[in-house]
Amino acid sequence: MKKQKTMTNLLCCLACLILYVQLFLSPNIAFASATSSEAEALLKWKATFQNETKNNLTSWAYYPNVNTNPCNVWTGVSCNTAASVNRVNLTNSGIQGTLYEFPFLSLPNLEYVDLSLNQLFGAIPSQISSLSKLIYLDLSHNQLSGKIPPEIGLLNSLQVLHLNENQLNGSIPQEISQLQFLNELCLQKNNLTGPIPPDFGKLKDLTMMYLFKNQLSGSIPSEIGNLKSLVNLGIYKNNLSGSIPTSLGNLTNLTLLYAYENKLSGVIPKEIGNLKSLVDLQLSENHLNGSIPSSLGDLSNLEILFLRDNQLSGPIPQEMENLKKLAVLQLKNNNFSGYLPQNICGGGYLENFTAQNNHLIGSIPKSLKTCKSLVRLRLEGNQLTGNISDDFGAYPNLRFIDLSHNNLHGEISHLWGQCPQLETLRIAGNKLTGSIPPEISHATQIHELDLSSNSLVGVIPKNFGRLTSLVNLMLNGNQLWGPIPSEFGSLTDIEYLDLSTNNFKESIPGIFGDFLKLHYLNLSNNKFSQEIPFQLGKLVHLSQLDLSHNSLEGKIPSEMSSMQSLEKLNLSYNNLTGLIPTNFDEMHGLYRIDISYNQLQGPIPNNKAFQNARMDGNNGLCGNVGGLKPCNHSVEHKHTSKKEFLIIFPILGTLLLAFLAFVLIGRRSRRKQEQEIKRSNMHESFFSISNFDGRKMYGEIMEATNGFDVVHCIGKGGQGSVYTAKLPSGSIVAVKKFHQTLDGEEASRKEFLNEIRALTQIRHRNIVKFLGFCSSAQHSFLVYEYLETGSLAAILSNENEAKKLDWSTRVRIVKGVSHALCYMHHDCSPPIVHRDITSSNILLHCDYEPCVSDFGTAKLLNPDSSNWTALAGTYGYVAPGKILK
Ligand SMILES: *[C@@H]1O[C@H](CO)[C@@H](O)[C@H](O)[C@H]1NC(C)=O
Ligand SMILES: *[C@@H]1O[C@H](CO)[C@@H](O)[C@H](O)[C@H]1NC(C)=O
Ligand SMILES: *[C@@H]1O[C@H](CO)[C@@H](O)[C@H](O)[C@H]1NC(C)=O
Ligand SMILES: *[C@@H]1O[C@H](CO)[C@@H](O)[C@H](O)[C@H]1NC(C)=O
Repeated sequence: MKKQKTMTNLLCCLACLILYVQLFLSPNIAFASATSSEAEALLKWKATFQNETKNNLTSWAYYPNVNTNPCNVWTGVSCNTAASVNRVNLTNSGIQGTLYEFPFLSLPNLEYVDLSLNQLFGAIPSQISSLSKLIYLDLSHNQLSGKIPPEIGLLNSLQVLHLNENQLNGSIPQEISQLQFLNELCLQKNNLTGPIPPDFGKLKDLTMMYLFKNQLSGSIPSEIGNLKSLVNLGIYKNNLSGSIPTSLGNLTNLTLLYAYENKLSGVIPKEIGNLKSLVDLQLSENHLNGSIPSSLGDLSNLEILFLRDNQLSGPIPQEMENLKKLAVLQLKNNNFSGYLPQNICGGGYLENFTAQNNHLIGSIPKSLKTCKSLVRLRLEGNQLTGNISDDFGAYPNLRFIDLSHNNLHGEISHLWGQCPQLETLRIAGNKLTGSIPPEISHATQIHELDLSSNSLVGVIPKNFGRLTSLVNLMLNGNQLWGPIPSEFGSLTDIEYLDLSTNNFKESIPGIFGDFLKLHYLNLSNNKFSQEIPFQLGKLVHLSQLDLSHNSLEGKIPSEMSSMQSLEKLNLSYNNLTGLIPTNFDEMHGLYRIDISYNQLQGPIPNNKAFQNARMDGNNGLCGNVGGLKPCNHSVEHKHTSKKEFLIIFPILGTLLLAFLAFVLIGRRSRRKQEQEIKRSNMHESFFSISNFDGRKMYGEIMEATNGFDVVHCIGKGGQGSVYTAKLPSGSIVAVKKFHQTLDGEEASRKEFLNEIRALTQIRHRNIVKFLGFCSSAQHSFLVYEYLETGSLAAILSNENEAKKLDWSTRVRIVKGVSHALCYMHHDCSPPIVHRDITSSNILLHCDYEPCVSDFGTAKLLNPDSSNWTALAGTYGYVAPGKILK
């Protein structure tokens, strides 16, 4: 701040000095009065700016008693030898204002005006035409509106006209075609309507014509073919219709032609083949029909060709092989038929070739199978045939390949393992046979592997565990067999897993419970047996689970109710027995359930989804739902889950808790997803202790804190103090101890219960992990993971620490917190509002990953109630909406 001020002062002095030197020593002094009136006029304009102090024009000033000369002293102003202003370059100067007071009449010698990248608004005044010497006019990247004044056509020396990226509307004045020396015309990204004036054909010197991203209509005037100098023609993203004029074939200097996303129809004129300079031709997303003219093979400089999303038909001409520089060829979503060109990769530059969703037949040409330059290849949705067992794969640069939904046969080549960059491999819906080659696991960057709907046999190779980047894995609809290999457990990034309709057998491995990011799991139509692993309860992001048509037995594990994201659950056609866990009551997201054809008994859970569930084929179910017999009360559930205990807890409150009661919540053991194994190990080990022996845990915490000795205290708040406790296992936890015990003051008791209730609902990498709680006659406390770096508030208030927080880290913190809030507001049911997001409630890991903490004032938003009006939180941080309520 201080430094900046001194700097400005220094600059001011410097400016004064130069000014005086100019005024008293330079010969310009003779013309000072003319210059002075120009300066005055400019100052008058400056005075109309809305942000007089915030722009970069502090050097524009008037000095009484001396003739003010702006030449080379004022920012952005230059003069001719006669000391009259001829250039005004104020690009990116923070100007907020209009052009209404711009001294058009007072600056007769102006040749160059650049006011781009400011916040100019209002219309362009027609007086602009008085700048009769103007050569260069750039008003781009402002907020100018209104029509382009036709008087601009009177600026007959103009060579460059940039009005792009404003909010100009109306049609393009045809008077622009009088600017016979015009070289660059940029009107893109406005709101211009109407046609392209045919008279533009007169602009013989034009090299650049950018009209894209407007709402221009009508057809492309054939007169454009007269613009012999044209190099770049950009007219994409308009509403242009009609056909492409054949005269465009005369634009022999054209290197770039972008006409995509219009409504052009008719055929591609064969004359386009005359554009020998063309490097980049993009005609996609129109209504073009007919076939590709073979003359396109003459475009020997062409590197990029986009024809996708039209109605083109016929074969892809063999002449395309002559395009030796071609790097990108996009033909997808047309009606092409016939064979792929045999030597399409002949030039050795082809990187991106997409021809999916056409009617192509024949086999994949050898040149494509061995095309080392390929990065992306999409041929899905054609009728390609042939054996792809051999010489396919081994692409050093390939990232994405999709050959799905063709009629390809043969085995999966082991060469796919030689694609070090490969991220997506899809060969679904073909006639592949044989087994999955173990070599595929050498392509360790694979994120998505889709081999579904083929006739593959054999087991999943053990070294599949090396594919640790896998996010989507689809092997469904084959004849794979055997147990799931335990090595599968290392695929912890997986989000979508479909192994349905195969012959997999033995138990569903408990390691599936470690796939914490999973949102889709389908194991249906296999031969899985034994019990459903209770570990699946850890899959808190899972939204669809299908285990139907297997031979699963035993009870439905009550841990499954922890899958709070679950929406669809299909357990039909198994041999499941026993009662449906009552804690299914709390699975608020569930809306489709199928438990038909099992041997389940007892009452159905009190959950809306069960009202419409498919439950036929179970003899012992009862409840108030059509088709079921009413329940006989002696069959009521006996077991009370931990979760239920928590819910009735507030009601029984003080009575129940007179004695030592150490209740721990088993569901809290969510491992931080992308974090070091070390932290997660510690977390898990701590957890297993607390999960099974609360009394021991209590003892350990009392011992570790020396009975809550102040030396272990790391923070104090209104309701309680926070201590660190190093447990015998070596893990460190944070313990928030309330000042009052539960049977004490009502407010803190409420807060305690509130916090527990909120915390049991949520798991997120940016929300502090809750490990357990204790309520005894002496103490009430909550146990959390300990975040070594402390709170954001503490860091920001320490100058040295704050310096370590660079901007990208700060952005990351903001992002993390917003992820946490988004999760609480949108992914939790009912939504949770924290109501006290302050920097002191944002804790940081050592890598500055943020965690939202302190849920003492959080509220569950019951959608049926409107009782959330009470103000809570830290003054100054409360959401504004709440104050209004
Ligand atoms: C652009 O013009 C159209 C009609 O001419 C109008 O509906 C639309 O609101 C305008 N958009 C902007 C951003 O001015
Ligand atoms: C192309 O230019 C030639 C003259 O250079 C002219 O005769 C011909 O008509 C033009 N072609 C089209 C299609 O306009
Ligand atoms: C696409 O081509 C097939 C023949 O290959 C033809 O029957 C069909 O009508 C064409 N569809 C369109 C939209 O042109
Ligand atoms: C559950 O799976 C069975 C067999 O896989 C299927 O027939 C049924 O339609 C599925 N139920 C629902 C509700 O999708």
